[in-house]
Amino acid sequence: MTTTDQPTTARVAAATGGSRTRAVGVRRDLSADDIAASGLRDRWYPILPSRMVRSGEMKKVTRLGVDWVLFRDARGTVRMLEDRCPHRSAPLSVGQHLGDRVACKYHGVQVDGTGTVVSVPGMPGCALEGKQATVSLEVAEAADTIFAFVPLTADSQPTPFVLPDRLSDPEVSWFPNYAEWAGPWRFYMDNVLDPMHGAFLHRNSHSMFGGDTSARFRIRETDRGFFFEKTDQRGVNFDWVEYVRGSMDYVDLEIPYARNAGPGGVFGIVGMSTPVDADNSAIFHWRTRRVQGWEREVWRFLYRTRLEQKHWEVLEQDREVLEALAADADVEEHLYQHDLGVSRIRRIYRADAKQQAAVLAGDRV
Ligand code: FES
Ligand SMILES: [Fe+2]
Repeated sequence: MTTTDQPTTARVAAATGGSRTRAVGVRRDLSADDIAASGLRDRWYPILPSRMVRSGEMKKVTRLGVDWVLFRDARGTVRMLEDRCPHRSAPLSVGQHLGDRVACKYHGVQVDGTGTVVSVPGMPGCALEGKQATVSLEVAEAADTIFAFVPLTADSQPTPFVLPDRLSDPEVSWFPNYAEWAGPWRFYMDNVLDPMHGAFLHRNSHSMFGGDTSARFRIRETDRGFFFEKTDQRGVNFDWVEYVRGSMDYVDLEIPYARNAGPGGVFGIVGMSTPVDADNSAIFHWRTRRVQGWEREVWRFLYRTRLEQKHWEVLEQDREVLEALAADADVEEHLYQHDLGVSRIRRIYRADAKQQAAVLAGDRV
């Protein structure tokens, strides 16, 4: 995996602006259940690792149940359009990359990075030219990752792009990790809001073997979300997690490391899940450590040579359980005190989905 150290600033593509003549990517007929299943809108999501969108190529992805095409323009800035030609809906991703625009394979219509039709070669001067007829998302590239703001309506204004604390701190060194899981995005959120699974599912891992196998938990509110934490153990195992609602939703947690795991301060993880569709998700983690100078180089060498593989093994344990859960796992269940965090996050997302569906239905909320 290619990684670089953190960038100093995020590169943000130009705002798309203007009115959209067609907006399949921002559908108006989504119910609260649709939104809960395929993902909440009006927030930033990680879309792909930067390395997966190479210059001169077009990359097709599905996110929040919609097909998109990503490409780098002549300046290297990532553009993200709905993968649907404004003419007769052929996928743009199988067309031609022309630097600052893409040409549809079917009849050659050319669309630029803002979703505007710049040429209809079969009929020059056609009224379609100059129209912004394809949904184009605001994109930011930071932390070796391409992020996009997914709007609820064609009028949604992107919120400022703000990275999680650990990823914007120059004293913190990080390694990104990307995986695709055949499970709903909400199962990922349930999983990370459930620290107790560390002491069982990951008991035989390199980092989560210690501490008690029973605990009491509490929720601690913050001005940006909440902590879900053990009341009687900290700094031993996966003992707490913070859920943050910012310009993007993420979780933040720490796993204590033994001294022989190399130099540096606390080992932290930032996690995010982006819905692919109702049944699949794209999983993003950044493994971080506060470490500077020569120790940073030692840490980065140790991580790549020894720890990264162990982390993949831990992540595989999560993936195997989540992919094996029944599709209605969050309907037929018996929760207990350790699941307060799970209940809480579900309540938040249910309320958000309901509110967004009401906006789409034109209600005042
Ligand atoms: S469908 Fe794309 S040019 Fe006709
Ligand atoms: Fe886990």
